[in-house]
Amino acid sequence: MARRVCNFGASIFSEMTALANQHQAVNLGQGFPDFPCPEFLKQAAMNAIRQDINQYAPANGRLNLRESLAKKLQEHYGYTVDPATEITVTHGATEAIFAAILGLVDPGDEVILFEPYYDSYVPSVEIAGGVPRYYTLRPPDWSIDPGELAPLFSERTKLLILNTPHNPTGKVFSKEELCLIADLCRKHDVIAMVDEVYEHIVFDGFRHQLLAALPGMAERTVTISSLGKTFSVTGWKVGWAVARPELTNAIFRGHQFIVFAGVAPLQEAAATALISTDEYYRELTMMYQSKRDFLLEALRAAGLKPIVPRGTYFMMVDISDLGFPDDVAFCRYLTTEIGVAAIPPSAFYHDPVDGSRLARFAFCKSQSTLEAAAERLQKLASR
Ligand SMILES: Cc1ncc(COP(=O)(O)O)c(C=O)c1O
Repeated sequence: MARRVCNFGASIFSEMTALANQHQAVNLGQGFPDFPCPEFLKQAAMNAIRQDINQYAPANGRLNLRESLAKKLQEHYGYTVDPATEITVTHGATEAIFAAILGLVDPGDEVILFEPYYDSYVPSVEIAGGVPRYYTLRPPDWSIDPGELAPLFSERTKLLILNTPHNPTGKVFSKEELCLIADLCRKHDVIAMVDEVYEHIVFDGFRHQLLAALPGMAERTVTISSLGKTFSVTGWKVGWAVARPELTNAIFRGHQFIVFAGVAPLQEAAATALISTDEYYRELTMMYQSKRDFLLEALRAAGLKPIVPRGTYFMMVDISDLGFPDDVAFCRYLTTEIGVAAIPPSAFYHDPVDGSRLARFAFCKSQSTLEAAAERLQKLASR
């Protein structure tokens, strides 16, 4: 085994899913919907295959998907993108992240990351030879202290990775925070890569904001998103990176030799999905807000202390008062004794201690799954 991968252990998701299956626990661990995707998307994918859109897609993605994406960015965010030169369609957001990091980070370059983080960021940076520098978001509000963030920037900083709405905290970065990050990136000539896969799951009247749309940021921002969370098709792995031509060129060079091209018929179906009306996105948000509220109540009724998420389909719970040595011990107990699986977030920190007083629950589940979890969680209250 090569040195570059030998420290990448098995993911915590595989371990918790195996434990959940073994104990027939209700799985609120992994972040994928257990309900069907919209019927119109299934039809669009089947039609694409029947129409024989079954050969290689162009390496940067099918033109009609790039055009739908540009139209959506214009209509939703008033952000103008050239579909010919500023979009790379990728194999999910994960490949976009990898291609962008490979295309932009040289060995020795520093990369600023907010932790807890999505688990592919650090391995991608390390494979590129980059050096991660961490900003730790702290509960309960996960806010940014400018005095702590600014010193992370230096002349070696090449890239900052931001995820908003943020997995696993449910934080939606505020306009002020985005402006602060933008100011620092401009001042230090740093590129920002923003992972926005939960852009349409934002609650309580808040709205997702594009970092790229802030003054002076379009030319230094890579905006990454995908179809999976917004259309309940996490298995399709259709994603994209949007950036000005110079950055797109760098991302494309990595992408062409990672996968060359994405899955043609699913790209065709994605083009249909992205011309969805505002009504679709509103209903999605309302559905997830009601699931969030249901899980909040269930966790509180079980005597737990959930931290209210403003976006995504994840919820963190403060477990510091419960008397467990750490998050892994709590999640194992919850899975094996209570019958509900959650994820120990220490896996999302470079120092696991910072996540050891938390547990992450996913609420991208059908009402019956959430009700079954709520019923089992009652056992915790009487513990
Ligand atoms: C923050 C974040 N980024 C990226 C991804 C992966 O997206 P995709 O399935 O499109 O690769 C996930 C999935 O859990 C995520 O939570």
